[in-house]
Amino acid sequence: MCPHNADYLDTVVILGRPGYESRAELLSAELNLPTIAPEDMSVLSSGFTLVVDHAGLSLQKMGVGAPGPIRCDFAEGALRHRRLYGGGKGQDIAKSVGLSHKGFRPLVLDMTAGLGRDGFVLGTLGATLQMLERHPVVCALLQDGLDRAQKQAVTDRELAEILARISVFGLDGKNYLEQLTEESCPDVIYLDPMFPMREKSSKVKKEMQLFHQLVGMDMDATKLLPLALSRVRYRVVVKRPTHAPFLAESKPSYSLKGKSTRFDIYSVQKLP
Ligand SMILES: C[S@@+](CC[C@H](N)C(=O)[O-])C[C@H]1O[C@@H](n2cnc3c(N)ncnc32)[C@H](O)[C@@H]1O
Repeated sequence: MCPHNADYLDTVVILGRPGYESRAELLSAELNLPTIAPEDMSVLSSGFTLVVDHAGLSLQKMGVGAPGPIRCDFAEGALRHRRLYGGGKGQDIAKSVGLSHKGFRPLVLDMTAGLGRDGFVLGTLGATLQMLERHPVVCALLQDGLDRAQKQAVTDRELAEILARISVFGLDGKNYLEQLTEESCPDVIYLDPMFPMREKSSKVKKEMQLFHQLVGMDMDATKLLPLALSRVRYRVVVKRPTHAPFLAESKPSYSLKGKSTRFDIYSVQKLP
């Protein structure tokens, strides 16, 4: 469970569409969240509904004008397109973890996995990924996305190979790092904690607003960096908005700057 975000969990209910009621009940027990009957949906004017149906899990914000649902789709949509036609190892995210370094196929610990998009991109480019996500609802969406991708991977060998390199844990990164032994330290740690959204920014997608409302701010993010640096073999990468201050006011070894995103690289030792 995610203690500092407990308030947000209070606002989530689970709805099983016809034929998916038993899966909804299982999820309700697993996440300790109540289920709601379809006929009672009309009374919900705020909060979130985690919907279980033929398309897997999706999270819907309730209320007038709420954005459409969020779900994880790894085998289809934008992530499929990026996997097949994206910029490969020339992308800043790939360079930041060292995937452009010849022969380096790192074990990356994505300590703030969220909906797994960055992690999956790194997986498609050859990294082995351990994804950690502490918010139970986000973690359920992430696991569901990977499970559905797994079904499609039966006829897609390349996708199957990528998924075989990805594992997900519903854990807090800090607790996880503290119990790591020297031998089990990852090559790279990737951090992308929640960052305050610019008010009135029309560029902030509605989907992102919804995610912010559910997860809240990662107030403890500054503590992750020193701990990560003490438990990594080669480097820690921090993803930030381009003009944001450095995490924990720590100057990185160097940065890769894009139009809206910056990757700060904290190097511990040279890549092999
Ligand atoms: C901005 S999102 C990450 C988005 C992700 N990079 C993606 O591409 O989908 C940050 C996520 O990190 C999670 N998080 C923050 N601190 C964490 C920690 N210490 N351990 C595990 N998860 C954490 C939050 O719950 C949130 O879902």
